[in-house]
Amino acid sequence: MPATTFTLHPLAPTLGAEIRGLDLSRPLSPATAAALAGALDRYLVLAFRDQTLSDADLVRVSGHFGPLDKAPITEHGRLHAPGFEEVYVISNVTENGRPIGALGAGESVWHADMTYLEAPPYASSLYALEVPAEGGDTGFLSMFAAYDALPEELKRRVDGLSIKHDSTTNSGGYLRQGFAPPVDLASSPGTVHPLVIAHPASGRKALLLGRRPHAHIPGLPVAESEALLDAIWAAAVRPELAWHHRWRVGDLVMWDNRWTMHRRDPFPGDQRRRMHRTQIAIPAEARRMEAA
Ligand SMILES: [Fe+2]
Repeated sequence: MPATTFTLHPLAPTLGAEIRGLDLSRPLSPATAAALAGALDRYLVLAFRDQTLSDADLVRVSGHFGPLDKAPITEHGRLHAPGFEEVYVISNVTENGRPIGALGAGESVWHADMTYLEAPPYASSLYALEVPAEGGDTGFLSMFAAYDALPEELKRRVDGLSIKHDSTTNSGGYLRQGFAPPVDLASSPGTVHPLVIAHPASGRKALLLGRRPHAHIPGLPVAESEALLDAIWAAAVRPELAWHHRWRVGDLVMWDNRWTMHRRDPFPGDQRRRMHRTQIAIPAEARRMEAA
């Protein structure tokens, strides 16, 4: 019998809901999958606990939300689960002297995934197979709440501006393969997006910051761009607007990558953390990040 019902429990004032009552190892009905997509749009982050998922399950569940991307190229090349190019391994574990996954055990700073692309991914799913006893929590921030938190004067200032999203460095601070460290932020490689975007249905405005290192506001001298970005980040990226997920084995967390940022706490390098992730491409009809 396909699973058809769930209950939804909000996790924080700005975003996040825990979904209870679903065993995701069983088939999802189209109605339930559509209800989950609606919940993701509204709550931006969905957490499911006590799941037992194979890589095939993870691919199947994520596939209800849209086409899956292949695992991205990391500091160690393309790291995917055996047999599943869509399943990206995030881990500090090494086997036979080689890392089995990306991002190590360090902090991952606030960012949205792959916003250096013209059409950044729609959403991601992260499933916990092994977790450390301490650390490694993943934080999420609503970029609607971040925009709302800007002082009015800063809202007026960012209106109509663009921002270049750096393509050289990943969220762990590692250079992507084939890139050199940026020297001049005004000319370094990246993709320009509107700084303020609007939800296509609600019209609600959100900041599209991507990540702080190596960002640049085109048209501004680098020092001025840096000062304005620092002011935006200080006003918008605040702990009280965020929610952090404390992982247990069997947790699946999905987030909407367009309207949120995420980060990760560091954890002890001698403890194992092993997560499998899928990334869902943005639907073809919504491929541009529309300016507000
Ligand atoms: Fe990320």
